[in-house]
Amino acid sequence: MHQVELRLGRDDSDVDSWTEVQLVYKAALRQIQTKMEILNDEFQHVHRYNPIEHIKARMKTPESIVKKLKRYGYASTIDNMIEYVNDIAGIRIICSFTSDIYRIADMIAEQKDIQVVSVKDYITYPKASGYKSYHMIVTVPVYLSDRIVDTKVEVQIRTVAMDFWASLEHKMHYKFEGDAPRHIKEELVQCAKLVSDLDARMLSLNEEILGMSEEDGQH
Ligand code: GTP
Ligand code: MG
Repeated sequence: MHQVELRLGRDDSDVDSWTEVQLVYKAALRQIQTKMEILNDEFQHVHRYNPIEHIKARMKTPESIVKKLKRYGYASTIDNMIEYVNDIAGIRIICSFTSDIYRIADMIAEQKDIQVVSVKDYITYPKASGYKSYHMIVTVPVYLSDRIVDTKVEVQIRTVAMDFWASLEHKMHYKFEGDAPRHIKEELVQCAKLVSDLDARMLSLNEEILGMSEEDGQH
């Protein structure tokens, strides 16, 4: 990490500003995480139900930021990172049911201080790999001592089952550097179909259970 920082900076002031940039992104990440926890708590209070199973927050490493800029054909400058790398701060929200995903996405979009920059609905339109997830790029204002910085955070919302699939597919991608054996890719596409089917069946089962009174269950 130190090495990359030095490569990024032409002088010490650049290293300083990279430290400050990181600080701002970390603050944005914490704010989104807290907002999600508040929504989840309130939901539990009102509906006796948690739409969020768990939350993972991560900062992109300087190495992968530089790699991404290279892939996009941009020089490794702090300005380019801020402008072109949308996932320096990333948060993943894992839900039980697909219906929770849209509920949470709506709740995020409705928050006054959050601006939605873009949305990719890979649930309605899955990737060819079979990948499903709901992605939002949002900005949240970070209040510093002398200014307010609107800071980008990538939000990925998916079910437990989609997350399970994405972890394995990611591992495969990483291992074979994108060039995986055909039968493994095909098997993963098949598994993605099973995941979609499982999510749909668990959702309708849940709705049926919610719609039943306790007496319905007596036999
Ligand atoms: P990246 O340059 O990979 O970040 O993609 P992008 O900027 O075009 O955005 P996109 O919304 O397509 O993907 C953002 C992130 O979603 C990725 O960094 C991954 O974490 C995840 N993702 C997207 N596609 C896949 C996929 O096919 N498999 C898995 N496992 N994860 C994916
Ligand atoms: Mg990414």
